[in-house]
Amino acid sequence: MEKTLIAYYTGSGSSRLVAQEVRDQLIAGGVSVELHRLTKASKEEIKRKVEVFNDLILIYAVHAFNAPNLVYEWLSELEEQPTLAGQRKKAMIISVSGGGEILSNTACRVTAKRWLIKKGYNVVTEAMAVMPNNWMSPTPLGVSKALVEILPDKVNQWLVAYSQSKPYPFYQVKFVDRMITRLGRLEVKGARSFGKSIQVSESCNGCGWCESHCPASNIKLVKSHSTEASRPEFGKGCDFCLGCIYGCPQMALTPGKYKFAVIKTGYPLEAYQHRPEKPMTDADLMTLLKGPSWNGIRRYLDL
Ligand SMILES: Cc1cc2nc3c(=O)[nH]c(=O)nc-3n(C[C@H](O)[C@H](O)[C@H](O)COP(=O)(O)O)c2cc1C
Ligand code: SF4
Ligand code: SF4
Repeated sequence: MEKTLIAYYTGSGSSRLVAQEVRDQLIAGGVSVELHRLTKASKEEIKRKVEVFNDLILIYAVHAFNAPNLVYEWLSELEEQPTLAGQRKKAMIISVSGGGEILSNTACRVTAKRWLIKKGYNVVTEAMAVMPNNWMSPTPLGVSKALVEILPDKVNQWLVAYSQSKPYPFYQVKFVDRMITRLGRLEVKGARSFGKSIQVSESCNGCGWCESHCPASNIKLVKSHSTEASRPEFGKGCDFCLGCIYGCPQMALTPGKYKFAVIKTGYPLEAYQHRPEKPMTDADLMTLLKGPSWNGIRRYLDL
């Protein structure tokens, strides 16, 4: 029986939805699958898993036209994989973006693919999932729901390509996009100071959700000597995933720096998953998606 490992990176949860859909469809097709979230705490364990699995599906949120820093770190630390009966292990990369195959997003899998090839993999399929945007400006609600709704069809298409070891069509990567993607790595510096600047309000009840969720182990709950209450403290290892800010059940966290990065109305992934009472027509969607900045989403939704 084939044994597939899915390693995914998520901040605000949309890449988890993609990973779960991939897992569910593979299991329905008779494949044995393990799904693991890639975090600083889990990366050693997933490295060991890689050794015993036939193939790897890597799924990650796009950060500044790249994979998140933690994904690159993990890839660079992977052992080189042995060939199986003279064949390299198979891999697929699914990037999850808010904008789709536009601008320099087209180059967001280049570095991860290079790493996987270096580690002995044959990356046969690449795909770009589009999910509601968690960076700066929200995707309109109707469009967000349409993106969640189309996901099973998209996953099915990618998995058909992968099962046949065929590439799934994606946009050609231009030289300029590779260059901009390299510049995008400067985001790592911004992430450090972003994380350190996060402010905790009085509404924090010390539940510890943020500490256990942070992919970068950048949050520690510390007990105050005077009040005995626990509150999170932030280190300098933030990965800019925004998960703690959107996910805190008390909405107690706000950025001190780079405030523009966070959508003020939050990232209500559950609301995006609720089916609309009256599904949007293509014409409705086109009205919401006017202009060149939505090109990637229009193409993704086949509009
Ligand atoms: C720091 C950061 C940078 C981002 N950069 C991009 C980008 O370059 N292109 C894009 O289309 N979306 C970008 N996004 C949006 C996310 O890729 C997108 O919302 C994704 O669905 C988030 O996945 P998650 O919910 O699994 O964290 C960025 C998000 C963050 C937090
Ligand atoms: S900041 Fe939010 S998630 Fe973190 S401990 Fe406080 S209430 Fe819980
Ligand atoms: S501190 Fe918050 S934004 Fe930074 S990596 Fe951790 S969960 Fe993500």
